[in-house]
Amino acid sequence: MKSTPKLIVFHPSLYKQSSSTSPSHRLWLFTFVTLFTFTFFLTLFKNTSPPPPPPPTTEYHPSDAVSSALLHYASISNTSDKMTSAELNAIATSLHRCSPPCNFLIFGLTHETLLWRALNHGGRTVFLDENEYKISKFEQNFTDFEGYDVQYTTKVGKSAELIDYARVHRKDECRPVQNLLFSDCKLAINDLPNHLYEISWDVILIDGPRGYSAKMPGRMAAIFTAAVMGRSHGGETKSGKRKSTEVFVHDYGREVERVFSEEFLCKENLVEVKDSLAHFVVKETNKGDNFDFCIGKSSSNSS
Ligand SMILES: *[C@@H]1O[C@H](CO)[C@@H](O)[C@H](O)[C@H]1NC(C)=O
Ligand SMILES: *[C@@H]1O[C@H](CO)[C@@H](O)[C@H](O)[C@H]1NC(C)=O
Repeated sequence: MKSTPKLIVFHPSLYKQSSSTSPSHRLWLFTFVTLFTFTFFLTLFKNTSPPPPPPPTTEYHPSDAVSSALLHYASISNTSDKMTSAELNAIATSLHRCSPPCNFLIFGLTHETLLWRALNHGGRTVFLDENEYKISKFEQNFTDFEGYDVQYTTKVGKSAELIDYARVHRKDECRPVQNLLFSDCKLAINDLPNHLYEISWDVILIDGPRGYSAKMPGRMAAIFTAAVMGRSHGGETKSGKRKSTEVFVHDYGREVERVFSEEFLCKENLVEVKDSLAHFVVKETNKGDNFDFCIGKSSSNSS
């Protein structure tokens, strides 16, 4: 913009001069004026062209110090319904292992919700909860919050029937490897947004829905769905080799959580139990003729 006022000042004086000078001078002045005009338009063009895009911002990854601080404050906060230090650390370790940032799916909005988002900063963190209102509250406070509500049709009081039902249908609707989006199994969550079924989850945490009385929805469907997700995987595997999904089940001391985990996530996949958090590693499985979730156990036998 600086050259524009300069031009306005010089222009009239140059023309005045030109009328009283020799042809050679005129030519020289003509060249000069042309040059000025050219420069003027060049400046004009330059100034009206869109500004260059801002340089890419370097992505922020919480350092180990930040992660440790978050874990510390989460473990000492004064709420009754919170995870212990050992439980928090087990999940944080898995998230740390799957860097670059993980695909992290969480059943249940809890005291730790914001911690999970922070520990998986830059990754995909998706929450599922039975309470639509709770999800909307988080969405209001955090614009990039990704949460979806799930309408559970199961009840803790029907869990024994549901195990028997799943064993009967292990070769068809309740098979271990399948596209959940089209599943008719009563334990399959099939009404999530379609794109969630395409994601290859690195870590799945089951800390919801409520399951402390017979009328509550219970975690049967969440456990079954996580077990199938881990075995089936969508298309998006990061590498060519067989993917595995780390599945954490909280409140493992309760009957439903333990029985359904043993049925669908399997004892042979259990790598550790920290306080009341069980940690399973579920490997991607070929479709084949394998109708059993667990090895060395015929799921068709009722116990
Ligand atoms: C924690 O909460 C309890 C009540 O739930 C209260 O009595 C206690 O003083 C609180 N402790 C701290 C350190 O805030
Ligand atoms: C949202 O922000 C309000 C105001 O700061 C706070 O009271 C509320 O607890 C927050 N809710 C969630 C779910 O973070």
